[in-house]
Amino acid sequence: MPSHVTPAAEIGQPTPSTAAVPGDRLSDAPLLEKLAMLTLEEKVQLITGRDLWTTWPMERIGLRRMLVSDGPSGVRGEVWDERDQSLNLPSATALASSWDPDLARRYGAAAAVEARRKGVDAVLGPTINLHRSPLGGRHFECYSEDPVLTAELATAYVTGVQDNGVGATPKHYVANDFETERFTVDVRADERTLRELYLLAFEKAVTEARPWLLMSAYNAVNGIPATENPLLRTPLKDEWGFDGVVVSDWTAVRSLESAKAEQDLAMPGPAGPWGAALVEAVRRGEIAEEVVDRKVLRLLRLARRVGALDGSAPAEPVWVEDGIALARHAAAEGSVLLENRGELPWDGGTLRKVAVIGENALAARTQGGGSATVMPEYTVSPLEGLRAALPDAEVSYSAGVTSPIGVVELPLAQMTNPVTGNPGLRARFLAEDGRELFTEDRLCGHLVYLGGKAPVGESRTFELTTRYTPAESGTVRLGFALAGSGRLYVDGRLLVEAVLDADEDPGSGLLSAPSTSAEFKLTAGVPLDLRLVYDLVDRTGLGTQAMSVRLGSEPAAVDGDALIAEAVSTAAEADVAVVVVGTNSLVESEGHDRTSLCLPGRQDDLVRAVVAANRRTVVIVNAGAPVLMPWRDRVAALLVGWFGGQEFGNTLADVLLGSVEPGGRLTTTWPAEQADVPVLSCTPENGVVEYGEGIHIGYRAWLRAGTQPAYWFGSGLGYTVIDPVEVSAPPAAAPGEVATLRVRVANRGGRAGKQVVHVYAERPDSAVDRPVRWLVGSSPVVVPARGTAEVEVAVPTRYLAHWADGWAYESGGFILRVGTSAVELPLRTTLVVSG
Ligand code: BGC
Repeated sequence: MPSHVTPAAEIGQPTPSTAAVPGDRLSDAPLLEKLAMLTLEEKVQLITGRDLWTTWPMERIGLRRMLVSDGPSGVRGEVWDERDQSLNLPSATALASSWDPDLARRYGAAAAVEARRKGVDAVLGPTINLHRSPLGGRHFECYSEDPVLTAELATAYVTGVQDNGVGATPKHYVANDFETERFTVDVRADERTLRELYLLAFEKAVTEARPWLLMSAYNAVNGIPATENPLLRTPLKDEWGFDGVVVSDWTAVRSLESAKAEQDLAMPGPAGPWGAALVEAVRRGEIAEEVVDRKVLRLLRLARRVGALDGSAPAEPVWVEDGIALARHAAAEGSVLLENRGELPWDGGTLRKVAVIGENALAARTQGGGSATVMPEYTVSPLEGLRAALPDAEVSYSAGVTSPIGVVELPLAQMTNPVTGNPGLRARFLAEDGRELFTEDRLCGHLVYLGGKAPVGESRTFELTTRYTPAESGTVRLGFALAGSGRLYVDGRLLVEAVLDADEDPGSGLLSAPSTSAEFKLTAGVPLDLRLVYDLVDRTGLGTQAMSVRLGSEPAAVDGDALIAEAVSTAAEADVAVVVVGTNSLVESEGHDRTSLCLPGRQDDLVRAVVAANRRTVVIVNAGAPVLMPWRDRVAALLVGWFGGQEFGNTLADVLLGSVEPGGRLTTTWPAEQADVPVLSCTPENGVVEYGEGIHIGYRAWLRAGTQPAYWFGSGLGYTVIDPVEVSAPPAAAPGEVATLRVRVANRGGRAGKQVVHVYAERPDSAVDRPVRWLVGSSPVVVPARGTAEVEVAVPTRYLAHWADGWAYESGGFILRVGTSAVELPLRTTLVVSG
């Protein structure tokens, strides 16, 4: 029996604070008919997830389940499983460093193609929060400190995804720019700051690319949780006309208040604060049923868009390109060459001995940690990439340092599944009485159960077994990482027993679980039976659906000086040395911020020592966010490779050997000293972080402070020199118009190359507080050897407006400065904004 249904005409009748917005006014009879078939209970069921990643199907109305998936730099799919592999694209910071919206569109399209391959209806990305402080733990997932550049890239990414029949989900709305106390922190920012900075990329993406979903954040903004916040209504829905589904960040819906607000879908499910409580609230008349109806209609609209309604197939992907080639190309386009003292590119034919040094050279990070993680089929380390590219050279390797990051998985080739005899491990979930509830054969000792069929909540014990045959003799530490109580047995004897307390943040507890280990003497070739037992008792919340465990080893006592000395001796004998430095999974991941911008461990000592031994030392930075590089003036070349995706090593070889350009320019200012950073702290005080600097973040704040960073926003070198030499612009433009600047650039060198043209506005006589200058347009351009090219840069006058209870246009002239970074600005013109 269908319950009350709000007729179409009534949807849109204003009721206090819950009145419909334009995106709800459906004249769409088929969807209204479906809605009319649903009981209140069914409607309420539909707007909380069915499980971790899917929504409820409802056969009666022709609705199948919809599957959503992380992450923005690839698509994991329904399970976190090394057997279900995904394309691992370079991190968002790498993509952004290309400054190339067209590349962002192709990157989004590649994500959509992956999604379609995995049956995923919507990608949970792009992440378009800002790099407010370099300590933010999820920088690698976001694009920039600048709102305009972020907006351009976000819009292009969303377009690339959705043109291929998959929903995109810009996230996290809004002011979710750091991780500390992320579930509860209250970000205080004035309206101008929100509009001009933190909302801007959402605005452009919503109004121009029309995403089918948008994710509300964990944090509160100005005292109200994002899932309950009036910002979901104004500007998102009523001003920008967002007609998609506002999905919550995972577990961010905590109240019925959020049901009254413009929060449409609570994830994950099936439990959640809406359910029966919401049904009762509607029955008691506290929440109008039409409020629920509007959420359901949005969900049904999404279903129709992704082809989940009435058996309609989703549109075929309109665009397919080789994802691996794209990963390699995108990484090069994003690689930022910060120093080059005549060293690069190398002529490979002249290199006989190359010393490759650094932990990250062997175990490179190709992606950041946390929910964005995907399982690539393979990754190419810098060492592998260089060896493949230099078959005739002797390419040596030494670690130089080791960072304590807990146990790492044992190599698959050294593990035998004790049941099948194949490489790998056996995983079993056992009931209280020892009955086997679920069993599977895995190919890696780091398992994350987050979705899928494993009965995490129903099991008493998890057991992981393998026969490990070490390749080398010596003492190591064997152990495990998990949250809770575990035991490791070696050949039936207990080696490690521990109860490990996880971080309070469930995501970080799950994805960066604490680790423990004990020494064990290995003999090469002598197999050991390893059995890890994990007690699954007393699990609550996310813990009933999710768990992670890592079985592995870590080095025993380390002689740091000896490691550096060994690296130095290989460097001294080589023609050139490549030191790959970087962050690790404890530093850059979801759920926590960084405490320091220094490279972890003794990597600075290592670089200094190697540089002293070989002046032709090139340093590669394998990090997703700024790090301090006190030795930067002494190295022959310095290249930021970011988390370069699965083709990272091949790309590095391409760039070092000059078969491609280092196409990247920084999208965030890199400090010389942590103390210099003008906006640094993201530690809440009494649960609050004040964005007191207002509109002055990133290079705007550095310019205002008059402090010199190590590298400005926009920094980066090519293998040739390309300068802007001439600019022409219309003299005036009306509010709302786009002024197109034509910039002539000249390549002074003998090879083709890429440059990024930036346009900044300045208004020294402004009646309002303004940044010293701010980016209003940019465009990448490729210029032939010794040639010139003309590039158009669109400058929307909206980027000259300021927020004063509405977009206000200060009439008169704005100085437009044209160049290649926030401080390299050889050209200027004036644009008058007419009344
Ligand atoms: C993250 C989101 C992510 C979600 C689902 C959350 O912890 O903040 O970015 O999409 O988990 O994995």
